[in-house]
Amino acid sequence: MAQMLQFNGHGELAAEILRLKKERNAVILAHNYQVPEVQDIADFVGDSLGLSQAAARTPADVIVFCGVHFMAETASIISPKKTVLLPDLGAGCSLAATIDGEKLRAWKNEHPNSAVVSYINTTAEVKAESDYVCTSGNAVKVVNSIPRDREILFLPDLFLGAFVKERTGREMEIWPGECHVHAGITPDVVNEKLAENSDAEFLIHPECGCVTQFLYFAEKGDFNMPMVHVASTEGMVRRARESSADKFLVATETGILHRMRKENPDKTFLPVKEDAVCQYMKTITLEKVANSLRNMVHEVRVRDEIAGKARLAIQRMLELA
Ligand code: 13P
Ligand code: SF4
Repeated sequence: MAQMLQFNGHGELAAEILRLKKERNAVILAHNYQVPEVQDIADFVGDSLGLSQAAARTPADVIVFCGVHFMAETASIISPKKTVLLPDLGAGCSLAATIDGEKLRAWKNEHPNSAVVSYINTTAEVKAESDYVCTSGNAVKVVNSIPRDREILFLPDLFLGAFVKERTGREMEIWPGECHVHAGITPDVVNEKLAENSDAEFLIHPECGCVTQFLYFAEKGDFNMPMVHVASTEGMVRRARESSADKFLVATETGILHRMRKENPDKTFLPVKEDAVCQYMKTITLEKVANSLRNMVHEVRVRDEIAGKARLAIQRMLELA
């Protein structure tokens, strides 16, 4: 009863999902940007790294992936014997779409001895052409693990790339891709909010368009903010929990605010940009999750040849994490 109350107005659908989940021996994994009711019904909510780790360790037969397509592909690559379902095949990613296998092969041809580090926001084909996969939670660690004399091609996010370059001090070639949601979180947008909320702690995702300028100011020591943290979505949620601050400005997709507020009811969380909303993440609804489990749709599977190569790059990351 208490559990049903938590599903505010979605009780019947939630009950059906829980029943089907049992019948199918399924687990529901949800990204931190999912709509609140989907997060609330999930067995695990997290960032890209946490979700791939959860996909790797689950004993379930079926994984319902409430996130975007590259995440479901990654789960299928890690757990090829499991059935991975994506409730809406339209859940794409503007950042992943900035590079494909052909473009990457051409780039590699220009830099034949380089190590390729691909952000997890890429297609399986791109991962198969990569030496390492990384997430925002471990990109610095992954790059630091590569011998210093090796040239690095980093893709596809230019802002995350600039952040990693600054943190590791490595020379890297960076692909000029960006996520349309995070790129819109520009220095101007942020500076205006910071001026209004100088008492807040500032949490920022490294895909944001303001990260490069912020790093510059922070280095110069003239960025007028007492507390700033650059982190993956899970890192931001953790910081919100552990920090003694009671007010936070949050620079990422606004779906993350649900979990922050739920876990910290006495603290205040403000989005830096109210319309920083990823329409791909929001295509997943409770109705579609129920439909997925009812009809076992839409299965995401990666061709063995591609999956085998991509798995090696993902495993290198998981071993480091
Ligand atoms: P993380 O949750 O891994 O930080 O990634 C954010 C993201 O952009 C997913 O689309
Ligand atoms: Fe892709 Fe950006 Fe949406 Fe994340 S927020 S899924 S990077 S489009």
